[in-house]
Amino acid sequence: MADKPKLTTDGGAPIADNQNSLSAGPRGPLLIQDYQLLEKLAHQNRERIAERTVHAKGWGAYGTLRITGDIAKYTCAKVLQVGVETPMLARFSTVAGERGAADAERDVRGFALKFYSEEGNWDLVGNNTPVFFVRDPYKFPDFIHTQKRHPRSHLRSATAMWDFWSLSPESLHQVTILFSDRGLPISPVHMNGYGSHTYSLWNSAGERFWVKFHFKTRQGHKFYTDAEAEAVVGRTRESYQEAMFGAIEKGEYPKWSLQLQVMPEADAAKTPYNPFDLTKVWPHGDYPLIEVGEMELNRNPDDYFAELEQAAFSPSNTVAGIGFSPDKMLQARVFSYADAHRHRLGTHYENLPVNTPHCPVHNYYRDGEMNSTGIRTGNPDAYYEPNSFGGPQEDPSVKEPPLALTGAADRYDHREGNDDYSQVRALFDLFDDAQKQRLFGNIARAMAGVPDRIIQRQLAEFHKVHPDYAAGVKSAL
Ligand code: NDP
Ligand code: HEM
Repeated sequence: MADKPKLTTDGGAPIADNQNSLSAGPRGPLLIQDYQLLEKLAHQNRERIAERTVHAKGWGAYGTLRITGDIAKYTCAKVLQVGVETPMLARFSTVAGERGAADAERDVRGFALKFYSEEGNWDLVGNNTPVFFVRDPYKFPDFIHTQKRHPRSHLRSATAMWDFWSLSPESLHQVTILFSDRGLPISPVHMNGYGSHTYSLWNSAGERFWVKFHFKTRQGHKFYTDAEAEAVVGRTRESYQEAMFGAIEKGEYPKWSLQLQVMPEADAAKTPYNPFDLTKVWPHGDYPLIEVGEMELNRNPDDYFAELEQAAFSPSNTVAGIGFSPDKMLQARVFSYADAHRHRLGTHYENLPVNTPHCPVHNYYRDGEMNSTGIRTGNPDAYYEPNSFGGPQEDPSVKEPPLALTGAADRYDHREGNDDYSQVRALFDLFDDAQKQRLFGNIARAMAGVPDRIIQRQLAEFHKVHPDYAAGVKSAL
């Protein structure tokens, strides 16, 4: 007994009895002054917070990013300099399922990384696919509605999904990856991660480069077929947590190679595709992968809620030397995530230990609900700016080089003049016969119950990719 910590109220006062509530006589009733009982019940009522609107089910761990390749000519970001090791957090997730969803479900996987760099947090919030279903963020909430439950039946709706996809040819690339083997990895350690968007890098001379980030699994790609996944889900809904948490507990640390594709700023005007279009990749033949480093996951969080549920990843977290691009989807995400965090976790979500940068934070933001840091300028007299009390000041050396923009403001048709088929064809051509057969079968099963007119519209889209694609799905149907 003596060496155990004392049980206390939230006010710190020791509790005499945590087994029996306070009652008038052994049979009750209870006394309202049993504050310890009330506090316990009140806490239980507040244990759940809103789940993420997407990517609610997740698995994660801490690790290290080590840079081994010299890319100083592309970026001045400290986190990407050769020899630098940066502590990090990874959270992988499925997109559509709720917090309690089964792990082995066919879905895109989130691949969210937070690097606690010396110069601030850099978050790379990617997926296990290099492209996405839509290219204009105006369409993102509509797309997500098709993935979530039908308002009346409260069931997932294959009709909604294929209706939307068949009316949105830009989705073909991602749909093809989703229904291929890579749409159902056996665990997060057996999949690649992609920053997906085009980001930018700039070097100390102020030159900008466009960049794509790739994290290639060193564990090899492994996948479940639909039938295998069904058996797995029948056995356990937590196969990913078991696999990744279990491996790290045993000291089997998963690793990924960090590779970059780099495009000189001026090339963006020359590529036959829009390099800022999230439904497109940059062919490796044009922009070869450059080996930059390795990421290793080597420590499980101690408290899932505090460290993963409350983790707040945001594409808006960048550091000097790494920036955005004109990609419209990325632009919307720069707004969306911090907004989601303020709603889900509160104004001061960045003060939660898992989100706190590993470098000093100084700013003039004040007050607000659950503010645990107090004045963040280091001096209570310096609570506005400019001031003459030695408060924190801007640092022009981290300024991004200017970006020239052109064009009249308008709502441009994002489908006009876009080739939604060639890159999908290149992917389809990569698949061997067995992969193609599994692709056809996976799609056909996912179309069960979908009205024929929607199926026909989707088959017409597959046909534009490759006649064999449409024919294969048709015969699997
Ligand atoms: P490459 O042959 O140089 O690259 C093919 C890429 O496809 C590799 O990155 C490989 O990833 C990945 N890949 C291999 N098998 C599959 C699969 N079954 N499902 C999904 N991805 C797979 O050709 P290109 O660069 O010209 O790209 C051709 C097509 O490959 C693209 O249209 C795109 O659909 C797909 N792809 C391209 C990527 C890129 O960044 N260029 C990235 C991922 C896919 P790995 O090395 O991990 O096996
Ligand atoms: C989670 C919005 C596209 C990857 C989220 C969340 C929102 C959101 C609101 C929940 C955040 C939270 O509550 O913590 C959007 C919008 C998009 C978009 C508006 C398009 C306009 C994408 C794309 C990717 C992506 C293209 C990948 C390339 C993720 C990941 C998470 C996530 C990995 C989970 C992060 C975590 O683990 O906490 N998204 N998203 N999203 N999104 Fe997106």
